[in-house]
Amino acid sequence: MSLINIKNLKKDYKQGTKVIHAVDDVNLEVGEGEFWTIIGVSGSGKSTLLQLLGGLDRPSAGTVRIGDREITKLNDSKLTKIRREEIGFVFQNFNLIPTLTARQNVEAAIAKRSKKDTKLSLEMLNKVGLKERVNHLPGLLSGGEQQRVTIARALINNPKIILADEPTGNLDSKTGQEILDILKTLNHENKQTVILITHSEYARKYATHTAEMHDGKLIVKKDRKN
Ligand SMILES: Nc1ncnc2c1ncn2[C@@H]1O[C@H](COP(=O)(O)OP(=O)(O)OP(=O)(O)O)[C@@H](O)[C@H]1O
Ligand SMILES: [Mg+2]
Repeated sequence: MSLINIKNLKKDYKQGTKVIHAVDDVNLEVGEGEFWTIIGVSGSGKSTLLQLLGGLDRPSAGTVRIGDREITKLNDSKLTKIRREEIGFVFQNFNLIPTLTARQNVEAAIAKRSKKDTKLSLEMLNKVGLKERVNHLPGLLSGGEQQRVTIARALINNPKIILADEPTGNLDSKTGQEILDILKTLNHENKQTVILITHSEYARKYATHTAEMHDGKLIVKKDRKN
């Protein structure tokens, strides 16, 4: 059984008198441990698709299954639980809380609180190469360092799925490659499934699957084993 199964997914937005088909009848199956990249021009519906897939938004029609659950049918509290425990999000603009240190930002995302929180958050920050910066506020970190914090935060609950929306968009290419290398390592070592929206050729080289979005339609480009 596939880990993620999307059927006839649609999201319409009203813009004045016009209706925009932001996601237009998308079908997609993603297996455990796969690494997908999705490309497409601005406005083609990539972020909307990722938000539906991660339960951050609800579709106009169609279904999203994660494992054996149809997340589109769940109430808000059940959906929040799945989102917190099973999905890690990484966004282009980091979305860190400016008044919390790197470590506190990571700890704030822990789904099941315990005395081990600090140990766990330090472990995660170490994993993304930020051992020396754990007590810094986001404003004192470089873009690449901030993105590492968001990855540590996304991973803190050991999610099955990592959804990343142009995580290297605000970074120079070398720093961007380092961030992508971290995602690739996680995918390899922990068998975490990654869906990455990116224009980076570097990422497309090691993706197991690539797809393109055009006007709300998703076209799967190639299917290969890694
Ligand atoms: N909340 C909203 N209300 C109305 N229209 C929206 C909303 N969010 C997105 N749209 C529209 O849906 C379409 C798809 O937007 P989306 O943000 O998914 O594109 P994208 O491929 O992620 O673009 P980009 O590469 O610029 O991030 C666009 O036409 C956009 O204007
Ligand atoms: Mg977008």
